[in-house]
Formats: sequence, structure tokens, C-alpha cells
Amino acid sequence: MSFLSKTDPQLAKILKDEIKRQNETLMMIPSENHTSEAVREAVGSCLQDKYCEGYPYRRYYQGQENFDKLETLCRERIKKAFGVPYVNVQPLSGAPANTAVYFALLKPGDKMMGLRLDQGGHITHGLAINYSGVFYKNIFYHVGKDGQIDYQAMASLAKKEKPKIIIAGITSFPLALDFKKFSQIAESVDALLMADMSHVAGLILAGSYPNPVPYVHIITTTTHKTIRGPRGAIIMVTQKGLKKDPEMGVKIDKAVFPGLQGGPHENNIAGIAVAFKEAGKPAFIRYGKQIVRNAKVLAESLKKKGLKLCSGGTNTHLILIDLMGSLNISGKLGAEALEAAGIITNYNGIPYDPNPPFFPSGLRLGTPAITSQGMKEKQMEQIADWIYNVLKDISKIKKELKVSFDQEKNKIIREKIIKKSREAKKVKVLVRKLCRRFPIKKKY
Ligand SMILES: Cc1ncc(COP(=O)(O)O)c(C=O)c1O
Repeated sequence: MSFLSKTDPQLAKILKDEIKRQNETLMMIPSENHTSEAVREAVGSCLQDKYCEGYPYRRYYQGQENFDKLETLCRERIKKAFGVPYVNVQPLSGAPANTAVYFALLKPGDKMMGLRLDQGGHITHGLAINYSGVFYKNIFYHVGKDGQIDYQAMASLAKKEKPKIIIAGITSFPLALDFKKFSQIAESVDALLMADMSHVAGLILAGSYPNPVPYVHIITTTTHKTIRGPRGAIIMVTQKGLKKDPEMGVKIDKAVFPGLQGGPHENNIAGIAVAFKEAGKPAFIRYGKQIVRNAKVLAESLKKKGLKLCSGGTNTHLILIDLMGSLNISGKLGAEALEAAGIITNYNGIPYDPNPPFFPSGLRLGTPAITSQGMKEKQMEQIADWIYNVLKDISKIKKELKVSFDQEKNKIIREKIIKKSREAKKVKVLVRKLCRRFPIKKKY
């Protein structure tokens, strides 16, 4: 940081504070992770200074000899990792990747079918105010009262509505999807099937989540979650996809550039290539399996304490706690209290949530980042204890102060509750100690 400190001390201070925050807290938002120094070196390199509009060996700017090689290398690593014949590595992030697929393969007004946002889907799977909800007609499948995806209802809805594309993807649903069932439903109505594996791509590589490749036509994924790469995304077309439409890859290439984007971020593409190199090591398989083992132990430990988990638990990397149903506090108050204790999670809606998105009933948390730090089952049991102790204490204080749900929406009241929590203060110290024992790694 010697250059940054001299050039821009103000920004350097912000960065130093963030390094400290990351080193002293548990990153338990399921979509976050800690990248290696090798990934960061690539992302922060001179590769970022170049314009590369177009695709390898077909660019609109000179000086491409190294960029053609790097983008080709990145593509080949990904094709090999997932066993797919086509990949586009240029999408700037997950939302633009999904948008590019829709732009390539749908016409405005076509029907899309995704998982409802409030039940675990993503905004780009058809939320009314998202591009996907504005330009396409959306229908949604849902989670049944038993907390499982209701595949039967999905099949009936697909038969009735005949969507052009079905999206199999989650952002807060904690159980693995059944891609075979998805493909049977898609085939029954001749729909395209896209898997948005943004959350679980690393788990798929590690063999700890079902592999969608044999079943779907298109796959999108971010590269900064369980893949443990830099911010970015990729779009893949499977053999099945090319069989359905041999032009699918060409259409997607055109939709990404020049359809939606200009110059690709080749520094990030280099970082993605490095992340896939790391993901090719046996250690990554162990990592991906440990993420799920950790999440299961965490979930079981929380359940033993009496917390209600949506869908009954997890067989992935993420857990959704029904906090309102368990302890009568909102996800928002719970997430803020845990932050005060050094445990970083996020508030989230739960299926059939009676409460609004800013003060939902749920709390979402996951294990990818703390597993990157080398934590295992024993630490999960410890963390579950801390989480429960803090939340229980907050619930008790809320009750003692006779705070209603409406009053809980007031930031000052929430701060007052959290300030009174001795557990939050106690756990914060213990979390720091744990973080010192499991420092963020520079190398995987
Ligand atoms: C399933 C899914 N798709 C797409 C995205 C969007 O990714 P980004 O935030 O990189 O645009 C996310 C992000 O959380 C996601 O979970």
C-alpha cells in the first residue's frame, strides 16, 4: 500500500480499515469469500489498462497478443472444469450475464419461469422492477409449505403457461435443486433450461452439489462466490444446449458484445483464470466438501438450540433462519446484533414471509468464507453457540423493553437494544480471538 498511502491517504485509510474489519470478523454472508493473493495480483495488474472489445483473435483494437492468449486460457480452463463446449467469460457480473442470456434467446414479451424472489430466487429471475420483469412476462414456481420446491406445481404451471425459458437457480434456498426434474419439466413444454449456479458453482466443481451440466442448455454463474475468484461471471452452453440450437453460443457472444457491453475487464478475466487454476487442485475438492459439512453442522447446532430453519436445514452452503418464528425478532435486528458481535450475515425474506423486505423474518448465513479460513466442524459448533447466545439475548432485551415490531423498525430503538446486549460484547472478543487463530489465507 506504499503508493496508495502516499497518493491518496484518505482512500488508503478506508482500505486499511476494511482489511482490519475483514480480519476481525466472521464473513458469513453465503455469497462472499476471500480470494487468494494470486487472484488479486492478476486483478490489480496492468491488464486492467487495455481495451479489448471483441473476442480472442477478432478484436477492434491493436495490441492484443497477450489478451487473446489470456482470454483463451481462461475459456479453456472453464470448459475443462465443467465439461462444456462453449463459454463466454466477458460478463461483468452475474446480473449482466443473466440479462445477456435473455437478450440472446428471448424476444421481449416472451415468458420466463423462475423461483419467486421471496422464496429464494434472484432479482434477475423475473422481479417486476428488474430488466427481466420489465421486458418479459414472468411466471414463478414456488416452495411448498414443507420447505421443498414444489415440482408438481411447477410442472402444471409450465404445462399451462408454456414458458420459453425456465431458470433453475437460487440465492437463498438452502437445499440442492433436482436438475433431472427441472429438465423433465422443461422438455415436456419444449422450454429452454438455464441453471443460474452463481451460489453453488464451486460446490459443483467439488462434487458437493448436483451437477446440472447433463440436464440444462445454458449455465450462468458468478465467479466471486464459491468459485473464490474475482467479481465477474461466465455463461456456458452445454452439449445439450448446442444440440437444441447450434447457434446458441454465437447468439450469446453477440448479446454480451456488442449487445450489452463494451470492453471486457481483462484483468478480472485473468483473475477468473487463476481462480479456475486453483479450483483444479485436489485441495479445492476438499474445500467444497468442507463448506457443506460445515453448513450442516452449523445448521444442526442451531436447530438443537431451538432455532427454526427454513426447509428444515441445509445440504448446501447456506442456511436461512426463521428468526421471527424462533425468537420474535426481525432478520434486520438479528443481523445488526450479530454484526455488533463480529458475525456478518444478512437479513432475508423467508417463504411466505408476512413481513416486508426491509424488516423480514429471516436471517441468511453461510460457510464459504470461513471455510476458506480453514475452520471446521468444531468451530461451527462454537459459532452456532455464539449466534444463538447473541440472538437469544437480543430477544430477551426486546421483551424486557416491551418493544413492538413497529418500534423495532426504528434504528434508534434497535441500537438501544443492541447496546444493552452483554452477549454481543462478549462474543465480539471471542470472534476476534477465533479470527486470529484462523487468519485469512493468501494462498490456497
Ligand atoms: C443466483 C444469482 N444470480 C445472479 C446474481 C447476480 O450477481 P451480481 O451481483 O454479480 O450481479 C446473484 C448475486 O447474488 C445470485 O445469487
